[in-house]
Amino acid sequence: MNADFRLDPDCDIFVGDLAATFPAWLAARHYSQVLLLTDTHCARHCLPVFFEKSKLPAHTPAAVIVAGESEKNISTCMAVWDAMRQHKLDRKALVINLGGGVVGDLGGFCAATWKRGMDFVQVPTTLLSMTDAAVGGKTGIDFEGLKNVVGVFQQPRAVFADPVFLKTLPAREQRSGMAEVIKHAFIGDLALLDDLDNMDAAALRRSIAVKVRVVQEDPLERGLRMLLNYGHSIGHAIESYFLDTDAPLTHGEAIAIGMVLESWAAGAANTAMVQATCARHFAHVPLPAAAEPRLWELLQQDKKNEAGAVRMALPGEQPFSLRLIELDRERLQAALTHYRSAPQA
Ligand SMILES: NC(=O)c1ccc[n+]([C@@H]2O[C@H](COP(=O)([O-])OP(=O)(O)OC[C@H]3O[C@@H](n4cnc5c(N)ncnc54)[C@H](O)[C@@H]3O)[C@@H](O)[C@H]2O)c1
Ligand SMILES: [Zn+2]
Repeated sequence: MNADFRLDPDCDIFVGDLAATFPAWLAARHYSQVLLLTDTHCARHCLPVFFEKSKLPAHTPAAVIVAGESEKNISTCMAVWDAMRQHKLDRKALVINLGGGVVGDLGGFCAATWKRGMDFVQVPTTLLSMTDAAVGGKTGIDFEGLKNVVGVFQQPRAVFADPVFLKTLPAREQRSGMAEVIKHAFIGDLALLDDLDNMDAAALRRSIAVKVRVVQEDPLERGLRMLLNYGHSIGHAIESYFLDTDAPLTHGEAIAIGMVLESWAAGAANTAMVQATCARHFAHVPLPAAAEPRLWELLQQDKKNEAGAVRMALPGEQPFSLRLIELDRERLQAALTHYRSAPQA
């Protein structure tokens, strides 16, 4: 059974029908026990499909967390660790994270810390988690309003990305993941732009290939991996800004705006193409002029900054090349004005 990707000697990534890979993969290993972790939405929409395809018995122990980013916290971890304790999981057991990025990040963190680390696999069920969150070995939770600040790097033993789960994913969540696929296209594979409306196994493979290549070259984010933050400096600030309003944006909606603004602010050669692509898939979001001071404040807290300067990571002219650009406040203001004036760009 050949994996589509081998991210690490011990982490295989399988893309496509998991019935063709998962049962044999599991049978070849001799885990003492299995614990499924999922959320309330996936328990309803994904678990029945997973039982059917994985051949695991329906009485397999499962822990179900409430769906949503607000649950990605230490209290939920405690509930999961408690389930591990109640089921007497030893270090030879396996945790299966069935869900989006929240389940994967939190479940990975709980497994990586339980008894100093037990095996886990990711079975991503959102487009975002198939092409991004489940790949790369970052696990963790939010803490005191700060996203992903507590966590560890720990590769899953395997990832099974099966597009079947996308059938029940709400359209807005699907589009949110699309922003990461667009990001992968501009980082290293423009052909992905033709796949956006049809994310089948072949398209997932192309998108995952971009992330795998970047992570393999820079597993611990010392350089090139920053490329995956394209659109995320300004995008995160926009996401946080709208979080405090009555019309929050999805991560992908914010990142799509972030890619447009960052490309424009950096004077990137492909700015028009980035703009056209994002405009095709995402509605224009009115950004009030009054938002600028708060956005600037949020940008100054970005993890990539060094010595007080706000830094953005952009793709260079060559595929898989990184440009680090400093952003000053005037440039941010100009980019916001540009975005506001060009709704159909
Ligand atoms: N580890 C990493 O490298 C990495 C990278 C990117 C993002 N992330 C994290 O991922 C999280 C976002 O992931 P997400 O967008 O998958 O969010 P999510 O896990 O919250 O899933 C989005 C929503 O879709 C529901 N859902 C999931 N699969 C479904 C399906 N197949 N059918 C119906 N409903 C379904 C979920 O219950 C949830 O309500 C964030 O916490 C982010 O920090 C991590
Ligand atoms: Zn992202």
